[in-house]
Amino acid sequence: MPKINFLVSGTPETIDADPGCTVMSVATLNNVSGIVAECGGGCSCATCHVYVNQEWFDKLEPASPEELNLLEFLENVKPNSRLSCQIAVDDDVDGLTVTVPPTQG
Ligand code: FES
Repeated sequence: MPKINFLVSGTPETIDADPGCTVMSVATLNNVSGIVAECGGGCSCATCHVYVNQEWFDKLEPASPEELNLLEFLENVKPNSRLSCQIAVDDDVDGLTVTVPPTQG
């Protein structure tokens, strides 16, 4: 079972994730602070924004044009920003580390 690491306000939390879900659903099902996910994963709210640990960023499937369009409007966007609802969980992401932006956490 892949493990996803969340960093919220400097505090790490490691959660076992079911393959086939998304990083956003792992966060919301486990009450990770700062991942609101208002649109439920529809790639239309950006309230699931995270920073992906640089070591992992290039290993993930690239962001879709829709995701990039949403990220563009965030104040605190960084080069390693992603929407966690667009990151699929499978065995390849075991150990993935994401940081919840301080303005959300
Ligand atoms: S949950 Fe709305 S964009 Fe990710």
